[in-house]
Amino acid sequence: MSDQGNQTGNWGGYDQKLNYVTQLGAGVLELLDAQPGEKILDAGGGTGKQAKDLLDKGVDVTLIDNAQEQVDKARGLLGDRAVLGDVEKLPREWTGKFDAVYSNAVFHYLRDPEKAFAEIARVLKNGGRLVAEMGGSFTQNVLQAGQSNLYVLQNAIRMASAYMPGTLAPLVRTDAQFANMDGIEYIYHPTVKTVAATLEEAGLDVNMARLFRRPTPLEVGQLSAALKGYTSNYTASLTPEQREDFLGKATMFAEQKLPRDKDGKVVLDYVRLQIVATKWPRG
Ligand SMILES: C[S@@+](CC[C@H](N)C(=O)[O-])C[C@H]1O[C@@H](n2cnc3c(N)ncnc32)[C@H](O)[C@@H]1O
Repeated sequence: MSDQGNQTGNWGGYDQKLNYVTQLGAGVLELLDAQPGEKILDAGGGTGKQAKDLLDKGVDVTLIDNAQEQVDKARGLLGDRAVLGDVEKLPREWTGKFDAVYSNAVFHYLRDPEKAFAEIARVLKNGGRLVAEMGGSFTQNVLQAGQSNLYVLQNAIRMASAYMPGTLAPLVRTDAQFANMDGIEYIYHPTVKTVAATLEEAGLDVNMARLFRRPTPLEVGQLSAALKGYTSNYTASLTPEQREDFLGKATMFAEQKLPRDKDGKVVLDYVRLQIVATKWPRG
């Protein structure tokens, strides 16, 4: 993967198969409460639908995303306001520029959350706010990791990885919270306590952090699309054929273990984390 972008082709069909992610993220925009004229950054804005809503309301919005195909789509809605780049390494010239940064369903992909939050703090004006929703964990899920669907997904990813010796980078995120998850340390789903500590460390004061359950039944094809998204950074080194093979296996392993609702749909017991934090002037 280059510094600028993840060009893995892992987000194809996003608006068809993962549009529920954007729709369910409406709460972030409510919390953001963007005002016309405000300069706002959508961090990991994907295909740009939320940003377009803001633009239509007179917000001076910029979108950054590290997947070329997502940015190409977003440009169709936002033109030059959609930029290819990494939340973990924002442009130097953006320092102190934004009234707010918001993000929906992105931070659980971060390889280095400390760096990303520090970068976000840097590009915010003093008094500016960060509003985000991401995957999170209840402390109980961390302690009893084997009981959550996240664990099933991570296990499926690990099992599929075992069929591709030498082709995958080491699991990228080491998070203390998952230290007792059978050595699987991949997706960043922090608790309120750990995300608050990381935000404060980055220079952001936490106004609100809350966890809530969002069980999500998936239609056919959505599980593999979700796994594709989850592993987009992880599988960046694979060829398209290897990635399809990997995803087919991971989906099969996950389907065998995940619970189903009365209609036979696989249900993911997503736990979401919403955060609002502010950069105050510091002496
Ligand atoms: C599940 S999608 C969410 C997109 C959008 N926020 C929405 O609500 O539809 C996650 C997005 O995060 C982007 N992404 C993941 N890691 C990123 C990073 N380090 N920097 C920028 N974008 C990133 C992916 O390319 C993808 O478009």
